[in-house]
Parts: sequence; C-alpha cells; structure tokens
Amino acid sequence: MVDTKSSRLSGFYRLTLAERAETLAKWAALSDEERAALTGGGLDAAQADNMVENAVGVFALPLGVATNFRVNDRDYLIPMAIEEPSVIAALSNAARLFRAGGGFTADSDEPVMIGQIQVLDLEDPYTAGQAVLAHRDQLLAEADSISASIVRYGGGARDIEVRVIAGPPSMLIVHLLYDCRDAMGANTVNTAVEHLGPHVEAITGGRVNLRILSNLADQRKARAHGVIPAGELTTETLQGHDVVHAIVEAGMFAALDPYRAATHNKGIMNGIDAVVIATGNDWRAIEAGAHAYAARNGVYTSLTHWWSDEEGNLHGRIELPMAVGIVGGATRVHPAARAALKLLGVQTARELAEVIAAVGLAQNLAAMRALATEGIQRGHMSLHARQLAIAAGASGELIRRVVQTMIAENNIRLERAVELVQQLQRS
Ligand code: MEV
Repeated sequence: MVDTKSSRLSGFYRLTLAERAETLAKWAALSDEERAALTGGGLDAAQADNMVENAVGVFALPLGVATNFRVNDRDYLIPMAIEEPSVIAALSNAARLFRAGGGFTADSDEPVMIGQIQVLDLEDPYTAGQAVLAHRDQLLAEADSISASIVRYGGGARDIEVRVIAGPPSMLIVHLLYDCRDAMGANTVNTAVEHLGPHVEAITGGRVNLRILSNLADQRKARAHGVIPAGELTTETLQGHDVVHAIVEAGMFAALDPYRAATHNKGIMNGIDAVVIATGNDWRAIEAGAHAYAARNGVYTSLTHWWSDEEGNLHGRIELPMAVGIVGGATRVHPAARAALKLLGVQTARELAEVIAAVGLAQNLAAMRALATEGIQRGHMSLHARQLAIAAGASGELIRRVVQTMIAENNIRLERAVELVQQLQRS
C-alpha cells in the first residue's frame, strides 16, 4: 500500500494542545486510549511499580512531535520526550529544509548485537581462540536452543568471533553475534552468553568471568543521508552558499577537535534520545554506543559528515550504532511508548533505527545552521522568555505580549517579566 500521508503539518505549532492531539489521532488512527496515553503521560504509579523496584510514582517529561519528516519516501511524525526548549521546533525546521532536497535516504545493518564472554587463566589464548572457532556451529546451536521464539521470527545466533587482549592479564574475548530482529535484545543476548559460558570453559580449559552484551553495537548501525538546496539556507543577511560553506567548516571543527565533537554529538543526541525515550527504548545504551563509536579510531570525533556538491548544495551524512526495538521491554509495557510507536508507524526495529538516524542528522543540521549564522541564543531566548512569562504569572494572550516586549527590549529576566505582567494586567 502506498502511504500518501504528509507530515508537512504547516502551522501545527499554532494549534491548541487539544487540536494537536486531534490532528495526531486522525493522522495515525489512534484509539481514544492511545490518544490519552500520549497526552496524559500514559503511565500510572501502579504500572511503574511493576517496572522498577521501590517505585514511588512517575516522573513526567514534555512529549512533543516534530513534523516535516520524510525518510525513504515515507512521511513520519516524530514523537519526542524532552525537557529542553527549541529542540523540537529546530528539528521540524531542519526536516523541512531536507524535505526540500527530497527527504532523507536511510539504511541499516541487520539487527545483530554482540554478546561478550571474557575467558581468563589461559596458557595460550590464541590456541584457545582457535578451539572456540572450531566449535562455532555447536556454540551457535546452543545459543539458538534457548530462545525458540526469536529464532522462529528469523533471528538467532549468527556467528562467533574471537579476540585476544594481550593484557596483562591476557584474555580471550569471545563474541556471539546475535540477530535480535525487532527486539533491542539485551535480555536475549545476555541469556545466550550466560548459557554459553560453561561450554566455552569446557572448550578452552579457561575460566569464564563476564558474560554480557556490548553496547558498542557496531554490527547494528543505521545511516542517513540528506541534501539541502543551498537556496533554502539563505538568511536575511547571508547567501545560501555562504551558509553552506560555514556549516561545512563547522562540521570540520567537530571532525578535528574532540572538545567541539562532544558538543556537536550532544546536539545530535538531543534529537535521538528524545525519540528513543518516547518509544520506550534504552537511551543509555544508545548514548554509550554512539560515543564509543565516535571514538572508534582512538580519537573522539563527529558522528556526522558535511560537504557541498558541485552545485553548492549541502550534503549531510550520519552513521552510528542504533540498538532499538519495537517489541519487548518498555516499548510494549509503557502505554505512551506504544502510542508513540503507533504514531511513528514503523513496522520493524530497523525502520525505527533509520528514522532515528535521520532525526540525529536533522538535529545536527539545526544546531549547526544556527551556530554558523545568528548563534543559538536568539531562538533559545524566545522560549526562555516564554517560560519566564509563565513563571511570572502570565497566561493566554498575556504570555505573547510579555515575551514580545522582553525580546524587543533585549531584557529577558524574571524581574522584568513580573513587572510586565503587573503593568499589562493593569492596562
Ligand atoms: C545544545 O543542547 C546543543 C548544541 O550545543 C549542539 C551544538 O553545539 O552543535 C547547540
């Protein structure tokens, strides 16, 4: 079936909360329960009690939706759980610019995770490694024997790799490569490597210590690429080509300097984490994988690459590990995560990973475009001013008037907001 829905919801931000919810419900054919889960946080204390120990309640974050996304010729609305102002607006804006260049193309690896087994006390770890490889088929069959359901869905153990770490202490590290299909897979992989531990001891004569998945999920990467026509980047004071040039230079800064790369990648993760959280996935795993991957060559660097083509248009590319699932864990237990996945409409974990990669690329563009032109404070300040106006007691139309005045005066402080609220309420 061809999906003809457009995520280009111009003016979505001007709608009321209720109107936005109504738009989403129609867009994704959400049931009343799903809609309520999205707007009301979804989780109650009793459900929280089933998820973690010593639960006392739930902790809420704003949930917003980024518009304008088009990935592999399909439109998406992007659910984002995040407390930081400007991120969602900037992302929607960036997605609109990429849309002008045809949207994102994205792809991903098979959903293969790595489980690690640490083997110590070996006389010769190299010989032990060869012995493990000689038992590859037996080990794969053992790993598959304990997770019938994932094997039924086409996943399961794929390969065994061995690495020797010279130490001291010297150790053999056995990697189980395991296809998790639509699950993130931590539980399955951990169960598999724990099961393999005694078999590896028997094969090597060594002592197995840790058996745990690696969050450097470099077998399970997602990639996205997009183009922005230079003209789309023209500002009041700058030609599009100059902005392209400044963004490419900003990209080189991050590629060459770990101090800048950390902030650059943080901006990427602003978008990625927000989607990962909204869909009930493990954002600590995604963070760990992203930063370890960024340091894979021994120097921490950028997760994205930016360049211009012969016509001067801007190209961006991102690649990073993306171990996300759409079944299992909180993705199914948390009602808001379930509704967020329905809103996204992704059919597989790989599709989710590809959309998230595009989000990371667009979020990066949004930050670099602002940084390479007017700086980020102007955009940030209007939302900051809004928060101050609300804190000062403004509501409805008064918020807009207080914000406008503070911005015009370039005086964005709580004291000024309080004065203005009192003054404007009197007038
Ligand atoms: C702020 O949350 C993120 C940025 O610092 C990212 C960047 O500098 O690229 C704006």
